Amino acid sequence: MDKNFLIVLSLLNAALVATSVGAEQSDEVSTYIVHVVHAHAANTAHLAHAHYTSFLQRILPSHMHGGSAPRLASNGGGTGAVIAILDTGIYPKGRRSFTADSSFPPPPRTFRGHCVSTRSFNATAYCNNKLVGAKFFYKGHEAKMGHLINETQESKSPLDTEGHGTHTASTAAGSVVPGANFVGYANGTAQGMAVRAHIASYKVCWRDDGNASCATSDILAGMNEAIADGVDVISLSLGGLKPQLYNEPTSLGAFNAIRRGIVVSTSAGNDGPGTYTANNLAPWVITVGASSIDRRFPAHVVLGHNRGTYIGTSLYFGQNTAGSFLPLVYGGDAGSALCEYGMLSSNMVTGKIVLCYGTKNTTNPIVQEAAVQQAGGVGAIISIAPEYGDFLQSSADILPTSTITFKDTETIHSYTQSVADPVARIDFLGTVINQSPSAPRVAAFSSRGPNRFAPEILKPDMIAPGVDILAAWTREMSPTMANVIDNRRVEFNIISGTSMACPHVSGIAAMLKVAQPSWSPAAIKSAMMTTAYNVDNDGNAIKDMATGQAAGPFELGSGHVDPNRALDPGLVYNTTADDYITFLCSLGYNSSQIALFTNDGSTTDCLTRPRRSVGDLNYPAFSVVFARSGEQVTQRRALTNVGANTNVVYNVTITAPPGTTLTVTPTRLAFDAQRRTLDYSITVSAGATSSSEHQWGSIVWSDGQHMVRSPVVATWQ
Ligand SMILES: *[C@@H]1O[C@H](CO)[C@@H](O)[C@H](O)[C@H]1NC(C)=O
Ligand SMILES: *[C@@H]1O[C@H](CO)[C@@H](O)[C@H](O)[C@H]1NC(C)=O
Ligand SMILES: *[C@@H]1O[C@H](CO)[C@@H](O)[C@H](O)[C@H]1NC(C)=O
Ligand SMILES: *[C@@H]1O[C@H](CO)[C@@H](O)[C@H](O)[C@H]1NC(C)=O
Ligand SMILES: *[C@@H]1O[C@H](CO)[C@@H](O)[C@H](O)[C@H]1NC(C)=O
Ligand SMILES: *[C@@H]1O[C@H](CO)[C@@H](O)[C@H](O)[C@H]1NC(C)=O
Ligand SMILES: *[C@@H]1O[C@H](CO)[C@@H](O)[C@H](O)[C@H]1NC(C)=O
Ligand SMILES: *[C@@H]1O[C@H](CO)[C@@H](O)[C@H](O)[C@H]1NC(C)=O
Repeated sequence: MDKNFLIVLSLLNAALVATSVGAEQSDEVSTYIVHVVHAHAANTAHLAHAHYTSFLQRILPSHMHGGSAPRLASNGGGTGAVIAILDTGIYPKGRRSFTADSSFPPPPRTFRGHCVSTRSFNATAYCNNKLVGAKFFYKGHEAKMGHLINETQESKSPLDTEGHGTHTASTAAGSVVPGANFVGYANGTAQGMAVRAHIASYKVCWRDDGNASCATSDILAGMNEAIADGVDVISLSLGGLKPQLYNEPTSLGAFNAIRRGIVVSTSAGNDGPGTYTANNLAPWVITVGASSIDRRFPAHVVLGHNRGTYIGTSLYFGQNTAGSFLPLVYGGDAGSALCEYGMLSSNMVTGKIVLCYGTKNTTNPIVQEAAVQQAGGVGAIISIAPEYGDFLQSSADILPTSTITFKDTETIHSYTQSVADPVARIDFLGTVINQSPSAPRVAAFSSRGPNRFAPEILKPDMIAPGVDILAAWTREMSPTMANVIDNRRVEFNIISGTSMACPHVSGIAAMLKVAQPSWSPAAIKSAMMTTAYNVDNDGNAIKDMATGQAAGPFELGSGHVDPNRALDPGLVYNTTADDYITFLCSLGYNSSQIALFTNDGSTTDCLTRPRRSVGDLNYPAFSVVFARSGEQVTQRRALTNVGANTNVVYNVTITAPPGTTLTVTPTRLAFDAQRRTLDYSITVSAGATSSSEHQWGSIVWSDGQHMVRSPVVATWQ
């Protein structure tokens, strides 16, 4: 098992800072951390001012939601639940998100954790009934580095020196903070999803030569500690692509957690938009992709010669030195198309706005802005990577800057080449909330399926807000994560990533656990998946920013999480730990590989177990893989009635993936007091040919009141 497990957190940008600026950035934390975006989970309009508006100022329209379901908010936002955040630690000093007023109750007696005190972390001062646990795990990190942690740079303590862990913790369960904003952007009342839940922070990620990384053994030690402490939910905004499922520490640690009834929510990764990029792929964890919300920070690029206006994004704060028409120069004509540091000619750039290209792995807008500034430029127009499509990443720009799409960059580039005196200006529109473009949309960077280890287990499971999320930040790191360039300090920061999406789901899971204490982690996950929605605020299918087309299950899983409907799903697909062991047998793992998951001294003999196929795991979604045309695949499921009515009949509505025939047997399930759990199967037949490698449809069980939806994906190999 390799020791280095890079965190999925942070900004896409941040990942690149260290490499782009080199020596100048020596105290930079960068990482593989992709950017973290948190989006807000959509709530019904009547919840807009209730308990979990998260960090959004506005809620998606009510037509996206069921309407008649009980309201989670009335359950007190997760009262009594403890959410473990395994991350870069927590920064509570002067952070209102981690305060508790005198009415905030102590954690339940079943919670056995506490805060440790160190030189830089005063538990007496920082911990309270909101922040009830703070510990740190570093031995794996030191072993990996081959030397001790340099405590001048990062003390051995739970203190967050990167920002990521503070952001994710406050998103999951931060206290209500009126007037929260980032340099004025996104101003409003910030609060975590489960505002009444408690936070226990476990620092497992540390600086590593400019990157934040999380050693496998530290992650496992942190998870075991959280389990022993008696937490209810574990939130893991970290991960990495691994060769086997048993190489994912998150999957290994989570197996022990779910056996003790602890829900484990994870980030899908920021390696999109390519296929097979999702990580955290075990069926017992919740794998969360990132979506946008209906809040934007537009920065318009207006070209001279009546060449039009292009909509970009920015979190710039300060004087707009690019607010009137100024000469525009293409970076490539001034020494560097990518506006690399030290490569732009001052003669060409001074007093001008500079157009810079961007790529997925070399672009850090902040570094490009610093390069433009160093060369005397007064504004920048920076392209997002070509593969990111319509995704616009907002940055805490240090110079008047608009980040625009690659397509618009091409247009503006041609303008610079077509006239002798190109000019442009940038207009900053501040915070805008409206329906254009539609929301939610799947973030282009959000990692996608299929599942590399078990293609029959559909991943990711769902999407949640992960673009431009406002949440608490550390004082030890600038908002751009580039301390050398940027010495600003902020209480809140706006960042993007599946790391931001994960804690939204963690908070919802905590609320569900409080509302439905008898539900297993699988039942909680099923409730979220089968009630997720697939329609945006325009009433159309949720789109993928990478393509502009409707997103499919490999991008959005079952859809966007809907906390209210998840409270009353009607039916759930339940699963036991033993079912998961059978699943590991069906993957072909041998007893020593399975022992890595069970980790309790027991030996699994797969030969004594029922022979099941991977696709027969009682998963709330279907993924069918055809090896040849004309093939027929059957998968079995069991549904448990958790609705208020014991005697209830459900009928199925089938939408077959194009190019397949899909049958469900039986098509009617009549539940009663004796038959609370009923079996059914689906059979999917491949047509002779398919126009595409993947097609999708769905099945929906309904009693006229509940809609229990599962996506069905067909893959032709
Ligand atoms: C820790 O905080 C408490 C409460 O604010 C304070 O009384 C104590 O002196 C602090 N300890 C140290 C070592 O600063
Ligand atoms: C620790 O970091 C500080 C500050 O960057 C540096 O001056 C010092 O040399 C480092 N110590 C060691 C042992 O590397
Ligand atoms: C944020 O909103 C509050 C309440 O509307 C207002 O009092 C405050 O001035 C605003 N702050 C900023 C920075 O816009
Ligand atoms: C830090 O991250 C960058 C970008 O991912 C990578 O190139 C570099 O090797 C990493 N450094 C270490 C020490 O892992
Ligand atoms: C991005 O990184 C990969 C692998 O490190 C490299 O092969 C590729 O050329 C890079 N792309 C660009 C545009 O720099
Ligand atoms: C699901 O299965 C678990 C483990 O057998 C059980 O405790 C739970 O009551 C079942 N039902 C639900 C709705 O979680
Ligand atoms: C399981 O497979 C691994 C990898 O092939 C092998 O090293 C190990 O010895 C096997 N264990 C058993 C009990 O067969
Ligand atoms: C289910 O189907 C039966 C038989 O077709 C029908 O009588 C019943 O109304 C249907 N129930 C629902 C909720 O659609």
